[in-house]
Amino acid sequence: MDLRLCTLLLVVVLLLPISAKASSKVYVVYMGEKKHKDPAMVTASQHDVLASVLGSKDEALKSIVYSYKHGSSGFAAKLTESQAKELEKYPGVLSVRPNTYWKMHTTRSWDFLGLNHYQPSSKLLKKAKNNGEDIIVGVIDSGIWPESPSFDDTGYGPVPKRWKGICQSGETFNATHCNRKIIGARFYIGAIPAESLKGEPLSARDKTGHGTHVASTIAGSPVWNASYHGLGAGVAHGGAPRARLAVYKVIWSEGGDMATVLAAIDDAIHDGVDVLSLSLGSVDGDSPFEYPGTLHAVARGITVVFAAGNEGPVTQTVQNAVPWVLTVAATTMDRSFPTVMTLGNGEKLVGQSIYRNETRLKSTDFHTLVYGEICDDETLESVNITHRIVLCSSPFKASKFTVNEVFAKAYLNLLKGGARAMIFAEYPSNRISIIENYLDGFMPYVLVDYEVAHKLASYSASSRTPGLKISRTVSTVGNGVVSPRVPAFSSRGPSIAYPALLKPDIAAPGTDILAAWFDTYEFKSGTSMSCPHVSAIVALLKSVHPNWSPAMIKSAIVTTASVTDRFGIPIQAEGLPRKPADPFDFGGGHIEPDRAVDPGLVYDIDPKEYFKFFNKCTLVSKDDCTSYIEKLYHLNLPSIAVPDLRDTVTVWRTVTNIGPEKATYHAVVEAPEGVKMSVEPSMITFKKGGPRSVTFKVTITAKLRIQGWYTFGSLTWKDDCNHSVRMPIAVRTTVQDFVADVS
Ligand SMILES: *[C@@H]1O[C@H](CO)[C@@H](O)[C@H](O)[C@H]1NC(C)=O
Ligand SMILES: *[C@@H]1O[C@H](CO)[C@@H](O)[C@H](O)[C@H]1NC(C)=O
Ligand SMILES: *[C@@H]1O[C@H](CO)[C@@H](O)[C@H](O)[C@H]1NC(C)=O
Ligand SMILES: *[C@@H]1O[C@H](CO)[C@@H](O)[C@H](O)[C@H]1NC(C)=O
Ligand SMILES: *[C@@H]1O[C@H](CO)[C@@H](O)[C@H](O)[C@H]1NC(C)=O
Repeated sequence: MDLRLCTLLLVVVLLLPISAKASSKVYVVYMGEKKHKDPAMVTASQHDVLASVLGSKDEALKSIVYSYKHGSSGFAAKLTESQAKELEKYPGVLSVRPNTYWKMHTTRSWDFLGLNHYQPSSKLLKKAKNNGEDIIVGVIDSGIWPESPSFDDTGYGPVPKRWKGICQSGETFNATHCNRKIIGARFYIGAIPAESLKGEPLSARDKTGHGTHVASTIAGSPVWNASYHGLGAGVAHGGAPRARLAVYKVIWSEGGDMATVLAAIDDAIHDGVDVLSLSLGSVDGDSPFEYPGTLHAVARGITVVFAAGNEGPVTQTVQNAVPWVLTVAATTMDRSFPTVMTLGNGEKLVGQSIYRNETRLKSTDFHTLVYGEICDDETLESVNITHRIVLCSSPFKASKFTVNEVFAKAYLNLLKGGARAMIFAEYPSNRISIIENYLDGFMPYVLVDYEVAHKLASYSASSRTPGLKISRTVSTVGNGVVSPRVPAFSSRGPSIAYPALLKPDIAAPGTDILAAWFDTYEFKSGTSMSCPHVSAIVALLKSVHPNWSPAMIKSAIVTTASVTDRFGIPIQAEGLPRKPADPFDFGGGHIEPDRAVDPGLVYDIDPKEYFKFFNKCTLVSKDDCTSYIEKLYHLNLPSIAVPDLRDTVTVWRTVTNIGPEKATYHAVVEAPEGVKMSVEPSMITFKKGGPRSVTFKVTITAKLRIQGWYTFGSLTWKDDCNHSVRMPIAVRTTVQDFVADVS
């Protein structure tokens, strides 16, 4: 494949997969809970274990890549397969797994979420201590560009005393690059193949822009008048604009790997972060990496937030779907980029673009329009595209190829052929996410649906001198733009590894997010952008409620999300076709930060419950794990997924009242189609001085004998004080052991 095409294709989805070459001999060894308090002792005992398998201490020191010693005990080491096998038998070694590979998955979005920092009407912001200045968010990503004005620390108080991290020096990055905003920076190269490090500064400096974008979305200081060439202009700021950032660079030019991510998580636990934000995913779908690292973090009270992935709208593509983390899907927001196209006959059509640069195409002039069909080598052979505006549209091939694939090829063909601009038709997905990843400087392009494309094609066929003028894009915001929606790219549930967990958990803005990109600001789309929105909201919630556990924070976020837009219309999910969003698209729904700060009731979980699952199902697969995974719906999560309802399933849940001491809640049940659902008791009363927690029973009975279909419902606890605690429910009925539907 053409190298350039490859780069562009990858950039499109904000993924930078790494090929599993060279270093595939790194293994991750997990040794469970630490036996020593002193990290040095933990490492020493790891060296002993390794030395006894490799023959000498020297060999052990040479082979070890990372030592994990703060969250749990374990290490990454370069081993042969037989050494790995031998190590697995060693007493105290719980698992030895080959390393796996990792990839990466602004402004307006905070107003859209009601977190306007300049006309403070937000309850959450008012309550958060100085906009989150007491909270430390760890960002595990591609590093940071410290010179961005978003990381200015003017007026910040001292770094919280409990902070134990460092500012690691490296090429073009030293201690002077940390400040009271970026309070820590580390980078990891131990397991990264040498060729991936070529051309990158060996330091926490961000070479791709991804980590900087993510970090500034979480905690960027306000920057007035930020825009992309005037588009999306406004105050760019993070959701928790005064939270502190701790940067862990694990992604290099070609991606990252599990061993490295685990090393960063281990350090972050030691350093004292409150929240961990990971806009990453494994290349080959779900990998068990998350377990030791993130579970130990959560057990220490750190909330871990993950991107759900960008593999939608296909079902079963959600990643990072373990129960103790927040898995975040994307939504669109109320901003749009209409671009007017005027035909030679005066008719006006509208598409979406971010066209501002007139070097290649003058916005005041008419240019010849030609039709290039799918715009591959074959269809362009008979069309002279030089200096023309080219329409690329192939409605009847739309289902055969992915949009990104066709777009990238067409774009490069047109660029090569000297076209002035491209008009690209795609199924109505209301996303311009592919646009911003192509440099406006190269060649302008406009996205249209097939109806508009048809009009353009008819016009170009019927006119002898078809002319078209493309005006510069303007941005519009507000009620006129249908939003939020779940964009097509957002990965969908159910989780393939754990269908009895409802994933993703929540959705947050992830399309056309303007945030810091080196010294400027750029639009990016992806669940990589949604994840930091949730991380920022978690930081604010933690600032208001320092004693909430990660499970409580997650419960507050999931149960207060909205499933309708501001007009009360159910939120839609883009795809083929568009449809009302269900929990596999957006979990509890679209995040509502102001409601999450005061949820009324929460579903809390003692991390011991996760460990039961973890120890059974992820380390020693000798156990009968399958039956356990199937029963995961017994975890006290703020959602219920029953993937195999034959007759009746009974699920228990416990709610804890964190609202007014005296309260009465009534259950409102919305049973999934084909299912009978009852809640006992259906009324819960909390008395002054009485117990704060109450357990209830949900009985789900199949009404229909239907093989393999998922339907969706909800259970909402409502009181008289405006609390509404809603959990999403997904149920699949099965009749017998034959193939079942997945969505
Ligand atoms: C750190 O980096 C800054 C800016 O690049 C530079 O001016 C300074 O000399 C460096 N300090 C050290 C100790 O290397
Ligand atoms: C904001 O930026 C635009 C374009 O970059 C410029 O024309 C305008 O004067 C700026 N406004 C302020 C208040 O700085
Ligand atoms: C294609 O169009 C360009 C620009 O109008 C023109 O210079 C060129 O001769 C044309 N090529 C062919 C093969 O007609
Ligand atoms: C505009 O596009 C030209 C090439 O078409 C490019 O050289 C230039 O850098 C672009 N300008 C901006 C501000 O992006
Ligand atoms: C109740 O909640 C709705 C929606 O969140 C809000 O608009 C309304 O102001 C609230 N009412 C009271 C009395 O708090």
